[in-house]
Amino acid sequence: MCGIVGYIGSESAAEVLVDGLKTLEYRGYDSAGVAVIGAQGLDRRRAEGKLKNLSKRLRAEPLSGSLGIGHTRWATHGRPNETNAHPHRSGSVAVVHNGIIENYAELRTELQAGGAVFHSETDTEVVAHLVASLRDQGMDLKTAVESAIKRLEGAYAIAVVDEDFPDEFIAARLASPLILALGEGENLVASDLPAVLPYTRDVVFLEEGDLAHIRRDGVTIYHQGEVVERQSKHIKWSPAAAQKGGYKHFMLKEIFEQPRAISDTLSGRLGQNGEVHLEHFDFGRVEGVEHISLVACGTSWHAALVGRDLIENIAGIPVSVEYAHEYRYRRHLMGAGDLVLGISQSGETADTLAALGEVKSQGVRVGCITNVLESAVARLCSDSLGVIYTHAGPEIGVASTKAFTTQMVSLHLLALGLARQLGRISAERSKAEIEDLRHLPHWMEQTLEASKDIAELAPFASEFDNYLFLGRGTLFPVALEGALKLKEISYLHAEGYASGEMKHGPIALITEQFPTVALVGDDALKAKAVSNIEEIKARGGPVILVASEGSEELARVADKVVLVPKVPERLQPVIYSLPMQLLAYHVADHLGTDVDQPRNLAKSVTVE
Ligand code: AGP
Repeated sequence: MCGIVGYIGSESAAEVLVDGLKTLEYRGYDSAGVAVIGAQGLDRRRAEGKLKNLSKRLRAEPLSGSLGIGHTRWATHGRPNETNAHPHRSGSVAVVHNGIIENYAELRTELQAGGAVFHSETDTEVVAHLVASLRDQGMDLKTAVESAIKRLEGAYAIAVVDEDFPDEFIAARLASPLILALGEGENLVASDLPAVLPYTRDVVFLEEGDLAHIRRDGVTIYHQGEVVERQSKHIKWSPAAAQKGGYKHFMLKEIFEQPRAISDTLSGRLGQNGEVHLEHFDFGRVEGVEHISLVACGTSWHAALVGRDLIENIAGIPVSVEYAHEYRYRRHLMGAGDLVLGISQSGETADTLAALGEVKSQGVRVGCITNVLESAVARLCSDSLGVIYTHAGPEIGVASTKAFTTQMVSLHLLALGLARQLGRISAERSKAEIEDLRHLPHWMEQTLEASKDIAELAPFASEFDNYLFLGRGTLFPVALEGALKLKEISYLHAEGYASGEMKHGPIALITEQFPTVALVGDDALKAKAVSNIEEIKARGGPVILVASEGSEELARVADKVVLVPKVPERLQPVIYSLPMQLLAYHVADHLGTDVDQPRNLAKSVTVE
């Protein structure tokens, strides 16, 4: 939550910062601001609401200078207005911050007693005053920031400028992500890669507690006061990966990218003889496993539900699926045979991180599935079971799409890898599973052809205020995900239920005004799922049916039908997810909501 950027070079800092913030807006869009140091000294522009408001402001009142910092906010402390927008300023110092300063109240009282005058309700403003007060004591900028962060409790990625130091800025991080990008005569910091890729692909993922002193011609990284060397990495993503590429919304682009994303998830990981190779995950460490807990939130939790069935059915290991925010506060009754795996697209969801950290500190083996290279969750697990990267590429739309399907496929690979490691699957069986997986991108392409038909269905589907999504077996998590997608971006109320649960209460809701999206798989539960739909139809409820080709006769129980290719049962959750995403997208687009940046949400939930 919140995105920060810092730039020093020869270009217009304000332009570089705004371009960078555009790619980080998924992290929050309550307000935005930049501070630039130019010939006139330090100046800033801030605006409530989305980045476009700041851009408008900058067109009317431009800022010149080639050193600056920028911020896009998801409000935690203080309302989303201009006064609370970053950068926060104290004298010659300005600061942008992502994270939460937990001891801000105590610091604020102390700084006020020393004469500091606060203007905002934010936790961040204490950092600006603290650095300024240390500067007043005669410290240079780097020493002042180094001393200030020793006083901070909580999480931060900060970038700090001072008009008395027009050729440098300082950045530091603890428990919030920060990337240092190394260019030619220019250097940047940012919360995420897409903000820096137009300038350079050579980056350093700053470590916990690192502080970077950044100049045009170089950077020095410090850790606990000592200069440290950090290996830079060359990123292969093209900047185009974080652009809309002709699509109306990022979400639609990301939906259509899924066949390619799944190919990338599978790439280099499937052997000729049914073996699975996951480059950063250590199957050698799973010996003695008796039970796995999958820990996640939101869409990633839905992927975990699908993963439970895959791991139990393929590898024969019992699996529990846990909401990270509940799990972290429960008593963990674990033994030597337990493994805990976190699933997180962003790799920085606070609850998932805390849950994994908690059990790891008790000596439990932890691993993760994440999309973001070197993210906090990846680092946490790297010295234990390791990391499975989903390789979905940057997901900018706040509503997860390709993250979900690549997570499910990653879990499938994990299940196969575990089964092979433990000798619970034959090479023949594993080879057959792998063949199916190789074919999956093709089936996904075919499924996406339904987009036009689903768009035509959107005016009808948009007439209702409430929805039920029903599925059985492995399509139950997909029903949950379909409901989440619809409510997230269209603001229509939707609930996902296991079809068999209908008679135990929800059926009371059914009227002509209460539609159901029913998922019917081509599996052993098909007849039962159809009976559940008949019961809804008998009570006058409108039904949008998603079923596989060959089930055309089911049109009799539905008002609208979407057919998807018939695929092996284990791949159904991936295939059925696509019409769920398309339905939510086209309904939201028809209703004219802000599809990529739905109200009140941010993509990375880095606070509890
Ligand atoms: C899904 O569309 C949401 N954006 C949300 O539920 C998300 O999946 C959840 O916040 C977990 O995020 P993570 O995967 O980055 O941990």
